[in-house]
Amino acid sequence: MNTNTLNTALNGSNHNHKAVNPFYEDVLKGLTSAPKRLDSKYFYDAIGDQLFQDLMNCEEYYPTNCELDIFKNQTAALAKSIIGNGDDFDLIELGAGDAMKSSYLLKYLLDEGVNFTYLPIDISSHVIEELDTNLTKTLPGLNFQGLNGEYFQMLQKAATLSNKRKVVLFLGSNIGNMPVADAEAFCGELKNNLSTGDMVLIGFDLKKNPKTVLAAYNDKEGITKKFNLNLLTRINTELGADFNVNQFDHYPTYDPETGSCKSYLISLIDQKVHIADYNESIHFKKDEYIYMEISQKFSIEQTKDMAAKTGFEIVNYLMDSKQWFADAIWRVQ
Ligand code: AVI
Repeated sequence: MNTNTLNTALNGSNHNHKAVNPFYEDVLKGLTSAPKRLDSKYFYDAIGDQLFQDLMNCEEYYPTNCELDIFKNQTAALAKSIIGNGDDFDLIELGAGDAMKSSYLLKYLLDEGVNFTYLPIDISSHVIEELDTNLTKTLPGLNFQGLNGEYFQMLQKAATLSNKRKVVLFLGSNIGNMPVADAEAFCGELKNNLSTGDMVLIGFDLKKNPKTVLAAYNDKEGITKKFNLNLLTRINTELGADFNVNQFDHYPTYDPETGSCKSYLISLIDQKVHIADYNESIHFKKDEYIYMEISQKFSIEQTKDMAAKTGFEIVNYLMDSKQWFADAIWRVQ
């Protein structure tokens, strides 16, 4: 059951969107603030998941392939950095998804006879069940302990399950979907949930030719556009709203100075939108924007500063062959 079905179940009805529904509360708060905003964490319903899969396979969206290049072709170096002095450890993955990239590392560690337990954390119980079924088949001998829930709650749980050293994977440049200050706070909280000697391996998408970045968020097929508009459709379906998605356009931007890649939806006309259980209409002026998502790009220096500020020391950095993406390995000081 995902969080939304859970909320529906708690509410006892599909029609009372208000009670105990963070999705409803966040959407209403975002659409009644100035400027309007929506939270990209809500992109991922079943259709959004599929669109993100399509994006990862599209020509212009490079981050997934770059990180895959690192996990496929530099597995030994990755493993060496996290194995350290060879003590047993817990390998925890935040938002594991299908663990496609991490599977290369898991297989290498198993083949080398390294003693470790893999603990994927995901908000979706479905994801954890699938991983359990698939990985125990494809990687026999893997010690597996799935954790279904919020990242930090599950990290605390992992600490109670064993006192082994922790290595936390946070891949896919998911850290870029937070404003820089929040990303820093996130690393600080990670550090607070770990102990001296524990490690993190974080995927950062790097600053590069601005046209390359912008194209990744403005693909010719229009998948990114659909991905953004799908959140409006989701609000219609789950919160009883009446967005006409044809009256909004996708507007991606990239600022090479700050490394901020941002997506907006632009209202094409003057229009009103209604949400069930909210008596007032939400007014959009022609050309008004909704801020949808940030996908921050970093310089290596910036990530090193972030490590120092949040209590980590640098262990290693691994980059893909194009030097477009970095997996940073840091140790808690
Ligand atoms: C999941 N996240 C790292 C993706 C990104 O690149 O920011 C989400 C995405 N948004 C548009 N395209 C992909």
